[in-house]
Amino acid sequence: MNGFYFAETVIGRGGLSQVRDVSIVIVWIRQMCRNDTQHGGAGYRESTAAVSDVSTADPRLEGRAVKRVVYDEVALAAKCRELGEAITAAYPDGDLLVLGLLKGSFIFVSDLVRQVHRPLAVDFLVASSYGDATVSSGIVRLLYDPETTLEGKHILLVEDIVDSGRTLARLVDLLSERKPASLEICALLHKHIATELSHPVRFVGFDAPDEFLVGYGLDHAERFRHVPYIASLL
Ligand code: IMP
Ligand code: MG
Repeated sequence: MNGFYFAETVIGRGGLSQVRDVSIVIVWIRQMCRNDTQHGGAGYRESTAAVSDVSTADPRLEGRAVKRVVYDEVALAAKCRELGEAITAAYPDGDLLVLGLLKGSFIFVSDLVRQVHRPLAVDFLVASSYGDATVSSGIVRLLYDPETTLEGKHILLVEDIVDSGRTLARLVDLLSERKPASLEICALLHKHIATELSHPVRFVGFDAPDEFLVGYGLDHAERFRHVPYIASLL
């Protein structure tokens, strides 16, 4: 049951006027909305309570209305711990180089690597894809390319969100040519609509809903990257 239906249930049983402490009900409703929306995907119900609540209370949103908080700070921290454990277990030996794809992954990478309990190195990539005219050529240009060699190392490419998968598909091709010992992808969010990515995403945080998400590194026109939770824009 989500908060909206909970409120309906309360009102339906005799009206809010009979509820002695309305503030307790509001706290319950908020809590239930949070629980219902943490995992995204199918099955959630939008909550009008969450809309006005988040949009007006957080100046980081610049007055922009959000549909809902999809993953809050607690859920994101727990997911980083879970992924960190999986990565630690997956790489018992060898050099591990974590390559964050900028800019969207910058917060995720910083939280993730602190949960990986083995030696590693961190670097970043800045990629620029050419437009539609060159899609068939599969060209991706690296605006920043790590100076360290990739040969013989385990490369873990970290992405904020996989949407079409176009950028990642090209990067995988490009980085594979450098003969790493292995090349895997870790994505915090996966919309599972990627049509261009044949390489499996080995570590996935959340199966994300097909909505426009901001916060925790994700932007809309370069805004909202610093919002500490992930919200869906209205
Ligand atoms: P792809 O190459 O189509 O998979 O696009 C991936 C990139 O698009 C991500 O790294 C993000 O920068 C951006 N992106 C995709 N979906 C969203 C979203 O919902 N919010 C913010 N950025 C997004
Ligand atoms: Mg991005």
